[in-house]
Amino acid sequence: MHLVAYADLAAAVSNAGGLGIITALSQPNPEALRSEIRKCRSLTSKPFGVNVTLLPIIVPTDYGTYAQVIIDEKVNIVETAGNNPGPYIKKFKENNIIVLHKCVSIRHALTAERLGVDVISMDGFECAGHPGEDDIPNFVLLAKAAQTLKIPFIASGGVGTGRQLAAALALGADGVNMGTRFMATKECTILPNIKQALVDGDERSTTHIFRTLKNTERVYKNKTAELVRQKELERPGDFGVIKEYVSGALYKKSFYETGDAQSSVWSCGIVMGLINDIPTCQELMERMVNEAVDVIKNKLPPMISKL
Ligand SMILES: Cc1cc2nc3c(=O)[nH]c(=O)nc-3n(C[C@H](O)[C@H](O)[C@H](O)COP(=O)(O)O)c2cc1C
Repeated sequence: MHLVAYADLAAAVSNAGGLGIITALSQPNPEALRSEIRKCRSLTSKPFGVNVTLLPIIVPTDYGTYAQVIIDEKVNIVETAGNNPGPYIKKFKENNIIVLHKCVSIRHALTAERLGVDVISMDGFECAGHPGEDDIPNFVLLAKAAQTLKIPFIASGGVGTGRQLAAALALGADGVNMGTRFMATKECTILPNIKQALVDGDERSTTHIFRTLKNTERVYKNKTAELVRQKELERPGDFGVIKEYVSGALYKKSFYETGDAQSSVWSCGIVMGLINDIPTCQELMERMVNEAVDVIKNKLPPMISKL
């Protein structure tokens, strides 16, 4: 999660038994990523990963040097996402790194499988951030992944409860990935007002921007997002007319300086409708695992016994 998934949150997730992930491009340069990886290592002895996202972004980025830092620092799990990650997947695999590739369509998952990726993170239409342009929600996407893929996959997008974890397993996934839900945890370093906006919002509190640029992004439905949508309606596909409202610098300001949830566009998912509190990562994950176990052990067997 760009500008959210720093060492503190990643380490808290790993310490609670998950796989915390640092976002490489949240760091201003590759050396800053090296420091962040070292910081994470000082906060947890558990495995953690680094995300490398290849998306159209405003500032050109030296992905190769970021990738080299990840390799040099001996991070053993990388999550790739975005456009044409093939060369980076190859480079990470050559260095014996486990590669988890996040994608939003079965055809991209099949390409990643062919490229030697170890695990797919299937990101359904529910997800925060970039759901792609096919608009396929997880109820179908995961079931199709189970029918199609040979490698393991995890369910991403819209997950925040143990009942959903159990459902994801039933649909063939081997685990879940959560973004928005982890923003509303104690260890996440964004300001309390933003976390509270996630608690106060519901499943109708997101909207899509960048549709006319074929780079759709699910964001918090606020006055800035509405303005961007209006501008896109007036001038479809013209990034120039929305550029000033959508910069990462603006949402960084909301997250870490003002706590104002209205004055920037920032990603979050419809799982907001299931977020009612701000627990620690440990509390959240324990609660989810207990709920999933309860569904699998206690709710499902009576149904089977009636067969
Ligand atoms: C604030 C925010 C920033 C994100 N930035 C990235 C990113 O830089 N790269 C990426 O691959 N995914 C990014 N995502 C998407 C998440 O990694 C994850 O796929 C998504 O949040 C899953 O959906 P959920 O929020 O419903 O759990 C971001 C999500 C959020 C909420």
